[in-house]
Amino acid sequence: MLEVSVMHTADDPLVDDELWPLYRRVFDDFDDIDRWRDQVWERHATREGFRLALARTDGLIVGFAYGYTGEHGQWWTDHAGKVLHPAVADDWLGGHFELVSIGVDEPARGSGVGRRLMAALTDGLDQPRWLLMTSADPADPARRLYRSTGWAVVGPGLGVDQVIMGRAWPAST
Ligand SMILES: CC(C)(COP(=O)(O)OP(=O)(O)OC[C@H]1O[C@@H](n2cnc3c(N)ncnc32)[C@H](O)[C@@H]1OP(=O)(O)O)[C@@H](O)C(=O)NCCC(=O)NCCS
Repeated sequence: MLEVSVMHTADDPLVDDELWPLYRRVFDDFDDIDRWRDQVWERHATREGFRLALARTDGLIVGFAYGYTGEHGQWWTDHAGKVLHPAVADDWLGGHFELVSIGVDEPARGSGVGRRLMAALTDGLDQPRWLLMTSADPADPARRLYRSTGWAVVGPGLGVDQVIMGRAWPAST
């Protein structure tokens, strides 16, 4: 049975023994855990508003998604500010929820895990604006997942093959 949980901290055994092996299988962009921890995980997991959604089938981790509150002075926010139209950057950047990563183990894809992770990760968020960066290819599975959950392209990404997508909520009255 699929279970999805959301947490605001992750202890070392979870990160080292479950999250990292899954992350590596899905993205394969870091060779060793120490570099990934140092360059990515430790920076992200300590940011304000951090939340991590985990999907498990019969107790085994099959998917994850995480994000935090993006602010000016952070690498991604400052670089996004250089590629977005200034008016878009003014509206969207700073205090936004930044969906950094979502991944589902290959054998578990196509059965609704990604959609469940997205719903759990964003459920009850305070930030009125959410941002992520993804493939510029509209047929990419991730692009289709985002489109089908209410995200829209707000501008180019940091690379030529990327776009920035956003989702906004009207201000409460
Ligand atoms: C993107 C990803 C997280 C989707 O996870 P998933 O569990 O397979 O997604 P779901 O089964 O919940 O599908 C949700 C929606 O995504 C889209 N989608 C998923 N797989 C798809 C595929 N192979 N082709 C086209 N669209 C696809 C569809 O819109 C689907 O909705 P539908 O089933 O109603 O048509 C998964 O493919 C993955 O981990 N990819 C590799 C990592 C990655 O690219 N991460 C995102 C980086 S920006």
